[in-house]
Amino acid sequence: MRVIAIDGPAGAGKSTIAKALAARLELDYLDTGAQYRAVTFAAIHRGIEPDEDEVVARLAKDVDLDVSERGVFVDGIDATLEIRGPEVTRAVSVVAANPGVRAEMRRRQREWAGVHGGGVIEGRDIGSVVFPEAVLKLYLTASPETRAQRRHKEVSDLKYEEVAAAIAERDARDQGREHAPLRQDDGATVIDTTDRSVDDIVDEIMGMLP
Ligand code: CDP
Repeated sequence: MRVIAIDGPAGAGKSTIAKALAARLELDYLDTGAQYRAVTFAAIHRGIEPDEDEVVARLAKDVDLDVSERGVFVDGIDATLEIRGPEVTRAVSVVAANPGVRAEMRRRQREWAGVHGGGVIEGRDIGSVVFPEAVLKLYLTASPETRAQRRHKEVSDLKYEEVAAAIAERDARDQGREHAPLRQDDGATVIDTTDRSVDDIVDEIMGMLP
């Protein structure tokens, strides 16, 4: 099974690079952040507080999640757009700190890789925890200003300062949590995507593949 793990903070370029790399390699692509966002959406939808750990962990097991390049469906509801909205974005790092949720997402991610025969998988703990055996582990980063600008372009109804503050808060929570925190795995190659084109970065990664 050939897994390429791409981790890093918000706005580092993971999704863009992972999709482009998967297309070049003709491998499938999995956005694990979308899975955590989908569980968060399900909790909000059912009126469950994100910090109700036991209830949310049970929900993570029961909920029907369909995350693919076609979109994100939660119990059959199309949540593709809403999982990127401010309400989910605000609550997702609380849901992702829940060890019960993480165990279930890990199980689903390994199952996905088994069914798909590997793939390009992006998230926060993919190389460090979920697929330590990945053939290539990358840690993408970019300057805080670049990351905030990229997100600001995507959600233009918020002020730049608001976007920058929200990203900083979410990164701090992802890095500071007890279970599978965001960190640079020792075996991961760090790529700074600030001021670099997608093609250039994908070329570099292609040259690293064993
Ligand atoms: O798109 P962006 O990088 O802003 O975030 P995302 O990849 O959609 O992930 C949303 C949130 O899910 C992150 O802030 C983490 O709290 C959580 N997450 C995680 O804990 N582990 C993963 N493997 C992927 C995402």
